[in-house]
Amino acid sequence: MLTNIVLLCFALLSNFGTTQSVNKWDGKWFPSIPDGEDRNPIIPFKRTDLTDHKHGIKMGIKDATCDDAKKGLIQDWFKQPENYTCLDNRKLYLPNSYIHPLHTIERIPPHYNAPHACMNETIEYNEIIPTFGTHRPLWGVFGEYKFLPKQRWLHNLEHGAIVMLYHPCADRNEVNLLKKIVKNCLYKHIITPYNLLEPNRPLVLISWGHRLEMSRVAIDLAVKFIKDHAIHGPEKLTKNGQYDFMLLHKAKIVSDINDSNLCPNDNESGITMK
Ligand SMILES: *[C@@H]1O[C@H](CO)[C@@H](O)[C@H](O)[C@H]1NC(C)=O
Ligand SMILES: *[C@@H]1O[C@H](CO)[C@@H](O)[C@H](O)[C@H]1NC(C)=O
Ligand SMILES: *[C@@H]1O[C@H](CO)[C@@H](O)[C@H](O)[C@H]1NC(C)=O
Ligand SMILES: *[C@@H]1O[C@H](CO)[C@@H](O)[C@H](O)[C@H]1NC(C)=O
Repeated sequence: MLTNIVLLCFALLSNFGTTQSVNKWDGKWFPSIPDGEDRNPIIPFKRTDLTDHKHGIKMGIKDATCDDAKKGLIQDWFKQPENYTCLDNRKLYLPNSYIHPLHTIERIPPHYNAPHACMNETIEYNEIIPTFGTHRPLWGVFGEYKFLPKQRWLHNLEHGAIVMLYHPCADRNEVNLLKKIVKNCLYKHIITPYNLLEPNRPLVLISWGHRLEMSRVAIDLAVKFIKDHAIHGPEKLTKNGQYDFMLLHKAKIVSDINDSNLCPNDNESGITMK
């Protein structure tokens, strides 16, 4: 160490002011090379309005250069009607009592912070039904959509929402029953079709880190899933979303804005939830 400092001082003293000899020095200059190009640049950490220590890009702020929930939406969805229209044989998607519901838990590292990406970047997922991951800074207004891309609803999940997905060819009675359960259980919900679901389980509930895939609605399991896993996202935030493209119905308050009481209306909904 001492030898290094002595050598450095020697180099500085003997070569000072002569660029030619300075360039012959191949060691590391500290803090930087005198009178020349900085070989060890210290890049200052830039904090712009859109930067956020946790996610990279601040959330919930409309910004035309990053995400304003209006421009460049085709990055996530080409707006094809096939994503919300049944083009397959509906019989393949009929409810089947022999196909058991599947509850998958993803072990999300406790210190995982989901990054935010602007609309100039694509976001891809390894899973067909992701339960966590990178997402857009602006999230969906709570409610039912003609179609909402996953890059949006993943952000709702992070705030404790329940997302319901159904295949466009799924049995309409089953879809309506599951919608009714979700809408009667909590305000913080998203409902959207998703044509990438498998025919054997075309009905899905998701929370941050959990998914429940069903062939037919298991009422008690669906209610238990919502009661156990809703409002448990890593970010407790009640604020509504900003994205409302193809929103059909805004969510209604069930117990209160914080969903303090999940699935309180077992009787009023006309569904036997026991
Ligand atoms: C995308 O846009 C953001 C904000 O304008 C910028 O910080 C980022 O570097 C851009 N990314 C690419 C891949 O161009
Ligand atoms: C829309 O459907 C097509 C065809 O199945 C599929 O490739 C695409 O990933 C879907 N888009 C979204 C956003 O789900
Ligand atoms: C909802 O939660 C927020 C934050 O904890 C709290 O300030 C607010 O009073 C709550 N509102 C209701 C209606 O419970
Ligand atoms: C639901 O019905 C049961 C039995 O009829 C009753 O005891 C209970 O109070 C009712 N709950 C609500 C929220 O109305």
